Amino acid sequence: MRAALEISVIGCGYVGLVTGACLAGIGHRVVCTDNDESKIATLQAGQLPIFEPHLDALVDRSRKAGRLRFTGDVADCINAGEAIFICVGTPPLETGEADLSAIDRVARTIATVAKAPKLVVEKSTVPVQTGQQLKQALAIYGRNSGVTFRVASNPEFLREGTAVGDFLHPDRIVVGVEEAAAERQLREIYRPVLEGGFECPVHAGKCPAGSPSQFLVTTINSAELIKHASNSFLAMKISYANLIADLCERLGANVDEVTRAVGLDPRIGPHFLRPGLGFGGFCLPKDIQAFIHLGEKAGVDFAMLKEAERINKQRVDAFLEKLRRALWVLKEKQIGVLGLAFKPDTDDIRFAPAIELIRRLLAERAQVCAYDPQAIEKTRAVFSEVRYAKDGYEVAEQADALLITTEWKEFRELDWRRIFKSMARPLVLDGRNLLDPARMKEIGFEYHSVGRPD
Ligand code: UGA
Repeated sequence: MRAALEISVIGCGYVGLVTGACLAGIGHRVVCTDNDESKIATLQAGQLPIFEPHLDALVDRSRKAGRLRFTGDVADCINAGEAIFICVGTPPLETGEADLSAIDRVARTIATVAKAPKLVVEKSTVPVQTGQQLKQALAIYGRNSGVTFRVASNPEFLREGTAVGDFLHPDRIVVGVEEAAAERQLREIYRPVLEGGFECPVHAGKCPAGSPSQFLVTTINSAELIKHASNSFLAMKISYANLIADLCERLGANVDEVTRAVGLDPRIGPHFLRPGLGFGGFCLPKDIQAFIHLGEKAGVDFAMLKEAERINKQRVDAFLEKLRRALWVLKEKQIGVLGLAFKPDTDDIRFAPAIELIRRLLAERAQVCAYDPQAIEKTRAVFSEVRYAKDGYEVAEQADALLITTEWKEFRELDWRRIFKSMARPLVLDGRNLLDPARMKEIGFEYHSVGRPD
């Protein structure tokens, strides 16, 4: 039996919750805190403020086993752990630069309330050299207590919708450290993941035998850079696929065929080549901006990334243009929107292309009816003038056009013949290439997707 470690997690957003729940799930004793009291109250009542597959089961199991608790008392949380994971938000400022004020606040709090030495781990996505600032802040504000701190960077590579599985079966665990002791502590924390032997909520005891996770030890600066470099590369890949899709549309090729063949080259790989409405969410759009900003500050020309970002921003324009071409006038037209979350299996609508699209449709006085399996409540708080449907059928009823904006599996499984009959005009614009064009044509739809012949 391995020794369980005591771990504190500061910040109960998406990263903090998944990190806390998974660390408890692999056997450690974890205490999580957040400065949002209502969030802590929700968590203490046994509910989750976000939807993420398998997270509820994991939290429930660990709480019942006494390995996971939530507290509003930050000092209680900090003093409970030998390692503290900082998982607070680093949202973009107007300039695109990451706002690090929450990290700074947490550093000062740790320095002043910690009563024993701590390993302070940056989990939040931060620009290079944040670790150095963190170390300095801990030393300065903690100078009177005599408590010493080690700092490490441990970027997370979780994807929303598959975050629990990503944490428990990572392709790599990156730890940026300055001392061997910090490396040893982090290796110990991740030992159950590296060696297996935990109860996996995703695969129920039958985890697929994949390649083993790599434990990579780097400097703190490199670890911080790896995260931004990874997300920006993924963003570039998507924008590249979108350019190829545009070219396919103009010249009569099929982007599915092209990206499939291109992705079979192991130097390129098949992932993140799906064209459509582009990348949204709270990671890729903000990280590419922060990386561009960082490059500029360091005197490195990141025009390549700027271009990827520009291409992404144009995706909604191009989609709307297609809709206008088909419908001519949008005012007073009834438009059904299938999908609000920035990707399937999450209720997260931050920087979701569907949200920007709805904003523009409403500005043109279209009547919007929307449906999403998880994200309606969050969207209702943004748009009160949208009508929200109870399912994919209601959203299509009497619609002049139906837009597919998130590739939820349940949308693929809808009875599209039934939808065909219920629409005022059987026009479907598929912004995620979710459906088969031949089948849609056979049913009789006017169907347009991205980069594929209509
Ligand atoms: C992303 C990264 O994939 C994770 O590795 C990283 O840990 C995370 O950010 C983070 O920094 O926290 P996530 O934002 O959950 O994860 O979502 P992705 O799966 O990367 O998708 C981002 C967006 O790109 C979505 O809007 C998705 O629809 C879009 N996308 C993705 C495409 O348009 N095409 C693709 O081929 C893939």
